[in-house]
Amino acid sequence: MSEGNASPPVLELRNVSKTYQIKQGMFGERKPLKAVNDVSLSLQRGDVLGLVGESGCGKSTLAKILLGLEAPTSGEVLVDGEPIGAQNRRLLARRIQPIFQDPYSSLNPRKSIRDIISLPLRVHGIGDSASQDKAVREILDVVGLPSRVMNSYPSQMSGGQRQRVAIARALIMKPEVVVCDEPTSALDVSVQSQILNLLGELRREFGLTYLFISHNLAVVEHLATRVAVMYLGRIVEEAPVGALFDEPRHPYTEALLASVLTPEPDLGVPDTHLGATYPNPIEPPTGCHFHPRCARVMERCKGVAPQITCDGEHSVECHLYGRESGQAVA
Ligand SMILES: Nc1ncnc2c1ncn2[C@@H]1O[C@H](COP(=O)(O)OP(=O)(O)O)[C@@H](O)[C@H]1O
Ligand SMILES: [Mg+2]
Repeated sequence: MSEGNASPPVLELRNVSKTYQIKQGMFGERKPLKAVNDVSLSLQRGDVLGLVGESGCGKSTLAKILLGLEAPTSGEVLVDGEPIGAQNRRLLARRIQPIFQDPYSSLNPRKSIRDIISLPLRVHGIGDSASQDKAVREILDVVGLPSRVMNSYPSQMSGGQRQRVAIARALIMKPEVVVCDEPTSALDVSVQSQILNLLGELRREFGLTYLFISHNLAVVEHLATRVAVMYLGRIVEEAPVGALFDEPRHPYTEALLASVLTPEPDLGVPDTHLGATYPNPIEPPTGCHFHPRCARVMERCKGVAPQITCDGEHSVECHLYGRESGQAVA
């Protein structure tokens, strides 16, 4: 197999949308909610793509589509350039593993750590119980847990230890891609950085590719090689991590960066910066979805949806940068 720039992305989304039908009102009329709206993204081998945006913007839905846990309403998911369908979902599950936010609810409280970590091996029928035990011991060592925890239960462990168990369970299948959905958001700040460091070390050691999701831009800064910023189901900006932090283009990215500098960055983007709250996804604003909160809004933004403009590896979806870009109104 060829490596380098010529090889297709290990994982790719092409024009992927996911629409949920939401029941509303007392007559239960259904209204479409576009959780993911025509997103194209690609993950090159070795990339850490940080996916950032406020709660409800569609990050987890996107992750579930990549993991094959949700089918897109339209669009395609490709692995190594091959579209995935129902028949190769199982193969996909071996190569792409998740780590979810909440190790309290993602680990079965009635199973021992041995059972939890070895479950993927048993599901895929890999090895006998002795070799599965050996694999569990080895992977526990990799994630920095003593092998004696094999006989423990999730309730006997701290949040950080539980997230190490979840990481061990993801890695035991030797996946190529790990989809981390807010893996540190439920943890204390001091433990967060330990887990982030561990994920960084594991990436170097095993050559992993990550999609790393967070609502906090600061969390992805040190791990990500690229960052995609999501707003109301759309990727509004994507760039190499340095360019995104040094020269953010989208006013939403600028607001997210400003919020990182506030004393309580975990509270999301303060409304005071943006002037309006996060919109209802069932009734998205006209034109550019971000315009009611945008510090640099122009007349056109209210009626016309912007197109993506791409400059090298930096893409942005904003009228300030389009071919017909204009002056901001005060
Ligand atoms: N199974 C579902 N049914 C209906 N609506 C959903 C479902 N899952 C997510 N949503 C809606 O889709 C939007 C995106 O949700 P989600 O992907 O969880 O966002 P995030 O992970 O960024 O917080 C939200 O408005 C959420 O309420
Ligand atoms: Mg989520």
